[in-house]
Amino acid sequence: MKHRVTLIGCGTVGQGLLELLRDGREDLATQHGAEFSLVGVSDLRMGSAEASTGLDVGAVLDAAKRGSFDGLPGSERKRDAIGMIQEVPADILAEATHTDLQTGDPGLTHIRSALTAGRSVVTTNKGPIVLALRELTELARTHGAHLRFEGTVMSGTPVLSVATRDLAGDRIQEIRGILNGTTNYILTRMEIGESYDDALADAQKKGYAEAKPDADVEGYDAQAKVVILAAALMGTELPLSKVPCEGITGITPDMIATARDAGQRYKLISSVRRGAGGVEASVRPMALDLDDPLAAIGGTMNAIDFRTSLLGPLTIVGPGAGRRETGFALLSDLLSVHRAR
Ligand code: HSE
Repeated sequence: MKHRVTLIGCGTVGQGLLELLRDGREDLATQHGAEFSLVGVSDLRMGSAEASTGLDVGAVLDAAKRGSFDGLPGSERKRDAIGMIQEVPADILAEATHTDLQTGDPGLTHIRSALTAGRSVVTTNKGPIVLALRELTELARTHGAHLRFEGTVMSGTPVLSVATRDLAGDRIQEIRGILNGTTNYILTRMEIGESYDDALADAQKKGYAEAKPDADVEGYDAQAKVVILAAALMGTELPLSKVPCEGITGITPDMIATARDAGQRYKLISSVRRGAGGVEASVRPMALDLDDPLAAIGGTMNAIDFRTSLLGPLTIVGPGAGRRETGFALLSDLLSVHRAR
């Protein structure tokens, strides 16, 4: 089956997806019967390009490396994102613009616009899902479209799809996770004596940290992911303001040494659980005993530990960031939409 795809936002994640589409073209066709034809791409900085018969993905990637889509087919039309979504016929929108947790925009407007036009959406953008999952799910349903957002939590590591599809019939009682790679990297480095500042600079150099590192170190990125887990897996919309959040800026080398002497290790733990008063969530640093499955997760790795009624414990460990890892989240969502269509 052929799917016409438009991509909005061609930064690290968008380019990661394009690389996988370029390199995986044959396998996608032979193993999955799926052809994803890139009919349009729009990026605030680089401009736009479009071709109803499909753009050459390799040429789009070369242009993205140069920083401009000028010279690609249809680039003279200079369509903005909304023009691209509304006017270029397509089946699926891949939305990979930056996250804004206050307004959700521009991604929220893009996703609303695509779903209203009956186009399915795959996205890694946390803002729109944090702020409007219920509304967007309803929009998708009304317009016969699909919405997928695996990459908003733990990048391409399958968490949301496993929980919604494979744990169907079970009931998730509690979720604890290490959902931010930057802070886990900093805590891991501090354990071997590196300073907080050096470890943060290193995480930024490796490309894990958010543009404003406050989002990582103050816990806001993890807080957003907790809200997504509560909404997607426990059916409870929690506003960010209802999730107490403490980052790692207060963790000192002394605290780490004291924890080590007591056979413990600090981790930034995100949790969501069903309590007597409903679903409760929080993000805070905790000293874990070393036999806790989350205590063993080092460096930029992420992990999530489910406690369910039937299966009991289930831990998933995997990358939570990165160009190909997050690009893969969009690819696996595209294939999920392929199966659903
Ligand atoms: N800055 C995030 C992290 C990236 O460090 O995990 C993905 O949200």
